[in-house]
Amino acid sequence: MKVLVVGGGGREHALAWKLAQSPKVAMVFVAPGNGGTAKAEGMCNLAITDIGELRNWARQEKIGLTVVGPEGPLAAGLVDDFRAHGLRVFGPTKAAAQLESSKAFSKEFMVRHGIPTATHASFTDRAAAHAHIAAQGAPIVVKADGLAAGKGVVVAMTLDEAHAAVDQMLPPDALAGAGARVVIEEFLEGEEASFIVLCDGKNALALATSQDHKRLLDGDEGPNTGGMGAYSPAPVVTPTIHARAMREVILPTLRGMEKDGIEYTGFLYAGLMVGRTGQVRTLEFNCRLGDPETQPLLMRLKSDLLELLWAATEPAASGGLDTMELQWDRRTALGVVLAAHGYPGAPRTGDVVRGLPAEAPDAVVFHAATARQDDAVVTSGGRVLCVTVLADNVRQAQQRAYDIVRSVQFEGRQYRQDIGHRALGP
Ligand code: AMP
Ligand code: GLY
Repeated sequence: MKVLVVGGGGREHALAWKLAQSPKVAMVFVAPGNGGTAKAEGMCNLAITDIGELRNWARQEKIGLTVVGPEGPLAAGLVDDFRAHGLRVFGPTKAAAQLESSKAFSKEFMVRHGIPTATHASFTDRAAAHAHIAAQGAPIVVKADGLAAGKGVVVAMTLDEAHAAVDQMLPPDALAGAGARVVIEEFLEGEEASFIVLCDGKNALALATSQDHKRLLDGDEGPNTGGMGAYSPAPVVTPTIHARAMREVILPTLRGMEKDGIEYTGFLYAGLMVGRTGQVRTLEFNCRLGDPETQPLLMRLKSDLLELLWAATEPAASGGLDTMELQWDRRTALGVVLAAHGYPGAPRTGDVVRGLPAEAPDAVVFHAATARQDDAVVTSGGRVLCVTVLADNVRQAQQRAYDIVRSVQFEGRQYRQDIGHRALGP
């Protein structure tokens, strides 16, 4: 079967890498792909990003299954379009993707269906937002509504920071700010975990647990990024926390969507804050796999991903996942992101990448923002590579990953030295 992966980041390289291992898959097309998927065995890049063009191409090529990586094409209705033209596709519809694409939608959804989350208020008016912050005090969290790739969130430790965030997200000029909205929410304390499930509309099958590192610098300092590294499993998600997350967050979300008349199919990612006394609260939903969580997760997944996605897209059953069980490698997987000079603000592109190692069963360098220039690999955006390894424990995984990280060179590269530190214990 020919399959199509939509997207071009590290998550999509990992999806293509895993799908290419299935005996049922003849070729994985990646649109638009990157410098890694361009040359890997069993993969082929496709320079199409327009949804209609991609759908026509997929029909012509008789693509058996499409899986969508990033939120953009989901929020733009790729799944609705492909389905309307008889194509099999794994991902949420445009309506379902609002769980991620609109913070106001997802907060209201959580309140309506009793899903634990931070208390919030939503504003389009600047003065009202400022007054609310003054009344609540700091720390407090200010979020821009809409997709902002993890960068539209300010966790303000002081009132000044919170007021400045409102000024930045809600422009004073009514026209310039048309449609702009901020969500202001309670600051939650605890440890974050990424809880990702596969949904077929009725059932949710949990993937292994994982945790990413959102801040740019060691010790979880510096600005928020898309994610500087990740590992799996995440010890913070104990069996009790796992059960609570399924019972209090995931299942009520599927039932809630059903009640609201929106079937949820696709990956569902709940960003959880696990409190000191074990309470689980939802920071956000994403309607897709996490990047870079996917890279370590898929290295640990032993089951055939094509079979899983096939079961989840069985048209008649809408319940194909209830008979599936996932097999995981017991080892720890850990991925370290190498980011470009200037990331996350203004990443520089065009730096030549040297020293990429050959792929090994327990060590893969997934490409993200890379391109091919003749025979060279060059950087083409913010998060360039994710060095991902499997090892017996976190410490060994760190050693192996950082050995490879040191050998991969490009001008101005940035990476964190402490990926996995929370899993090492005190
Ligand atoms: P979001 O895109 O909503 O997940 O926010 C990005 C990051 O900001 C999260 O991963 C958290 O680290 C932090 N954050 C978001 N909301 C809160 C909150 N209510 N309390 C504390 N930290 C938060
Ligand atoms: N790593 C966080 C995300 O994909 O949103």
